[in-house]
Amino acid sequence: MSEFKELVFSGVQPTGNLHLGNYLGALQKFVALQESHECIYCVVDLHSLTATLVHDDLAEQTRSITAAFLASGIDPRKHIVFNQSQVMQHAELAWIFNCVARIGWMNRMTQFKDKAGKDRENASLGLLAYPSLMAADILVYRATHVPVGDDQKQHLELTRDVAQKFNNDFSGRIAELGCGVEMEVGEEKVNGFFPLTEPLIEGPVTRVMSLRDGSKKMSKSDPSDLSRINLTDDADAISRKIKKAKTDPEALPSEVAGLEGRPEAQNLVGIYSALAGVSRADVLADFGGRQFSDFKPALAELAVEKLSPIAGEMRRISADPAYIDGVLRDGALRAREKAETTMKTVREIIGLIGG
Ligand code: AMP
Ligand code: TRP
Repeated sequence: MSEFKELVFSGVQPTGNLHLGNYLGALQKFVALQESHECIYCVVDLHSLTATLVHDDLAEQTRSITAAFLASGIDPRKHIVFNQSQVMQHAELAWIFNCVARIGWMNRMTQFKDKAGKDRENASLGLLAYPSLMAADILVYRATHVPVGDDQKQHLELTRDVAQKFNNDFSGRIAELGCGVEMEVGEEKVNGFFPLTEPLIEGPVTRVMSLRDGSKKMSKSDPSDLSRINLTDDADAISRKIKKAKTDPEALPSEVAGLEGRPEAQNLVGIYSALAGVSRADVLADFGGRQFSDFKPALAELAVEKLSPIAGEMRRISADPAYIDGVLRDGALRAREKAETTMKTVREIIGLIGG
């Protein structure tokens, strides 16, 4: 039996402006993977309803994330770019996964705990079931690889758990229909319908930290705009934020081990390394022994060089919403066809009547 065909899937929520963390943790990897893989990139609008149902600018936000995808260099003709709600098979499979996954799995998710806060009883049911829809996003294409930032690791583990339980619960039907693919699970060889998806998290910075506090991740929701570099920031704003970034008083170390216990230095060196496409050791070979007052202008210059063209391209693309909607419509058409192929078999495996 053949192996699962390698396929990359990832999603970004249309909430708030994208920042450097999203760029280095996600977009930059999305772009690189296009060379080696077939890729599907999705603006997950249904996910954005889980925390707040009513948005006054959902459509604009969806277009803005799409513009960021395109401006970063994602090619919507060679690959697929679309918004989640246009392919209803995601929601259909999510319902089935709601019946596969256990409430206990969902209750353990740190993102749920963080977002629900103290009053968990009052969180939306959608917020609790969020990872089930995320598993459906991925598995409706039987995607094998998912580039994400470090914060999504737990959700990817849950996606594997859902796939494994489905494969196991329906192993008899899968064998009967001959729709499984042989794969290794630990020592065992099993025949499963869904792949056990691998997260692609590695890179010089798996978690970009706040510029104001090296112990907090860079985030859309941080009240201080100085904590993050937005993809839409102009050159002045980028330089100012880097200049004001928190640091410690020591010079930069000459070796990577010397970054240990220095979160702000680690973060800025990681950002430099990811933007320049060189290792942290190479960055420190150049800057070891130098003060932050030397390093920060170099980092600011690099960040402006890499990010300004993206901001310019985003502005250009955003000026033509009809074009963006056309990209999403075309992507959805192609995605729907793939998703429906999977769902036909899923319905058959489960015993739901219909085509
Ligand atoms: P979000 O904006 O939270 O929907 O995240 C979109 C993508 O960016 C996901 O793959 C996240 O893992 C990634 N991401 C968000 N914040 C960061 C960060 N500070 N560092 C690295 N990756 C991040
Ligand atoms: N949960 C992801 C985030 O907050 C977004 C997301 C939804 C996603 N579905 C996905 C990421 C599928 C990767 C694959 O960033």
